[in-house]
Amino acid sequence: MVISSQKELDLISSACKIVAETLFKLKNYIKPGVSALYLDKIAERYILSRGGFPAFKGYRGYPATLCVSVNNEVVHGLPLQTKILREGDIVSIDVGVRYKGYYGDGAWTFPVGRVSKEAEKLIDVTKKALDLAVSTVRAGVTIGDIGSVVQEYVESQGFSVVRDYAGHGIGKELHEFPQIPNFGKRGKGPVLEEGMVLAIEPMVNAGSYEVEVLLDGWTVVTKDGSLSAHFEHTILVRREDALVLTSI
Ligand code: MF3
Ligand code: CO
Repeated sequence: MVISSQKELDLISSACKIVAETLFKLKNYIKPGVSALYLDKIAERYILSRGGFPAFKGYRGYPATLCVSVNNEVVHGLPLQTKILREGDIVSIDVGVRYKGYYGDGAWTFPVGRVSKEAEKLIDVTKKALDLAVSTVRAGVTIGDIGSVVQEYVESQGFSVVRDYAGHGIGKELHEFPQIPNFGKRGKGPVLEEGMVLAIEPMVNAGSYEVEVLLDGWTVVTKDGSLSAHFEHTILVRREDALVLTSI
């Protein structure tokens, strides 16, 4: 969407604030022995208590509030009771909120206890890729400018960007125009306009970029079994910069 009033900006900011608060709250619960379903219940209760609704629940039949993706799982992991976090895992948590008809979307990858050097680097590189993408954004840049910045940085660190899933416009729907791939060429693609709201979400694999979907119909995993990380912010495009909406 393109924001057209202060009221709209306030509503979408509220949705995004609930997303950020949910991730911040979940951070305290992430430890060995905790199930993904437990995290899902904490998140759902919190979102409802803030007057929001879990945006993923029911989206194309998705059954839960969170996507909880562990280690080689890239995105869309189901928050199962049998999915128990263990020391050394990395866990990506994706959460969407609808508030008074407006959407916010965000994701964060957390270490569970102490993790390997490679896992730590993967998390740092993916977070930095998102930060670089956000700092590239202002009115007049292209979708390809965002993708190329993410791709060049990630590949320079020896990792790969997932090709099959992308960021997206957001606002009155969870997924809106334009798609925001995490790879691309400078100067190519749609031009960003002031007031656009975007969800930028690099998904980075330690090995090959190839992924596949498990038989549950949701969970996306790396083909080679390598680790994967995912960070996402919803942002507002401004004349000179981007405003991150999914921050506390
Ligand atoms: N955050 C995901 C995205 O940006 C949405 C998950 S889709 C769902 O596309 F179906 F799992 F809800
Ligand atoms: Co998203």
